[in-house]
Amino acid sequence: MSHVFPRFSNIEFPVAVKGDGPYIIDREGNRYLDACGGAGISCLGHSEPAVIKAIQDQVAKLEFAYAMFYTSEPAELLADDLVSDAPAGMTRVLYGCGGSEQMDGTLKMARQYFVDIGQPRRTRFIARRQSYHGATLGSLSVSGHFKRREIYAPLLADAEHISPCYAYRGRRDGETEMDYGLRVADELEEALLRVGPETVIGFVAETIVGATAGCVPPTPGYFKRVREICDKYGALLIMDEVMCGLGRTGARWACWQEGVTPDLLVVAKGLGAGYQPISATLVSDKIFEAINGARGTFMHGHSYQAHAVACAAALAVQRVIRERNLIANAQTQGESLMRLLEDRFRNHPHVGDIRGRGLFIGLELTQDRETKEPFDPALNLWLKVMLKGMEFGLMCYPGGGTADGTKGDHVLLAPPFNINSGHVEEIVEKLAHTFDSVFKQVSLS
Ligand SMILES: Cc1ncc(COP(=O)(O)O)c(C=O)c1O
Repeated sequence: MSHVFPRFSNIEFPVAVKGDGPYIIDREGNRYLDACGGAGISCLGHSEPAVIKAIQDQVAKLEFAYAMFYTSEPAELLADDLVSDAPAGMTRVLYGCGGSEQMDGTLKMARQYFVDIGQPRRTRFIARRQSYHGATLGSLSVSGHFKRREIYAPLLADAEHISPCYAYRGRRDGETEMDYGLRVADELEEALLRVGPETVIGFVAETIVGATAGCVPPTPGYFKRVREICDKYGALLIMDEVMCGLGRTGARWACWQEGVTPDLLVVAKGLGAGYQPISATLVSDKIFEAINGARGTFMHGHSYQAHAVACAAALAVQRVIRERNLIANAQTQGESLMRLLEDRFRNHPHVGDIRGRGLFIGLELTQDRETKEPFDPALNLWLKVMLKGMEFGLMCYPGGGTADGTKGDHVLLAPPFNINSGHVEEIVEKLAHTFDSVFKQVSLS
């Protein structure tokens, strides 16, 4: 009997023992094509020699030096690497060990900034429904997915949630994408005025919504309008690129594709690509200078922050991506994956929407593609898709509550950036088999 506390206690999962490029191999020798990088994490696949060597070399040299006493060569080099092409004005890097922890630290940094510049009345965040920013109490407070918040709601900090920018479900008949985006962006101004702009620290948003809504890109002009509103009321713009950043969308920073620069930019999954747990916040000079000038210390820290081995691994990951031009490959393979998915599922009775950017693609599943009616949540369709996919040797990352936090199902695809056209075809074939089998089972039940 296993003594591990698992994610699902009524499902027996295979024991993963080995990686082979984009495949994970279990103890029985079954191979799973990792079409989702876990949860958008493994952007280099599973056995990249350059990263393995960087980890081995760093452990042999120095495994750890506590960040309150030392900096380290890998931490410095990685920060240089990130800042070298960061959005304008982002000059400092705060490290952590994962997305949720990083979001918490970032929210605290935003709060400290206002205290340190003499605006202590700013205590609230505004965020969006259908968003996910993490599982810790702080990051869950800004997350807007009903089911993930439900049982912890009494423990969460107060945050305002406005509509997501989710054109598939929110755009009205006859409304252009641009008009829709501006309408939902303007909800930010309404929320600021409702709660009092002098009490708001900032607006928190995933540049492209990942886990909870299934790769929903913003409509054109949405984030530019959001930036204007934040500037008008002196609120910070905090962009969460934990899942969509560092190349996944075909650009190093997803916010580049929106033409905006946030004040704080959070990345995690693709930073260490699963080789080590690591996350980072790119901090604008204005925030660093304020905190540095006021008290010279950020009132926050973790034991493993700026871990030397994690930084060495992440540095190797980022170098491999750059040297092999893998962001361009993510863009090219993403376009062909999107094309094949559209060819295959455009008229599928239960695929309502196919969306995304680069190698970050979501398929929203509907009971009725005309009315967009979701499946009964009691069916747990998303889980059936995940388990059936594994039977066919495909790892995809499905989620439920897509439409409104309770109803709706989607499948998220986020394969490694170094896949080739053969892998792309294999993903689509295996997904088609998975859908055939799951929908047959559902229609018989
Ligand atoms: C956008 C976003 N933010 C934060 C998190 C939390 O990251 P982690 O699971 O590494 O704690 C996730 C995880 O899926 C995410 O997708």
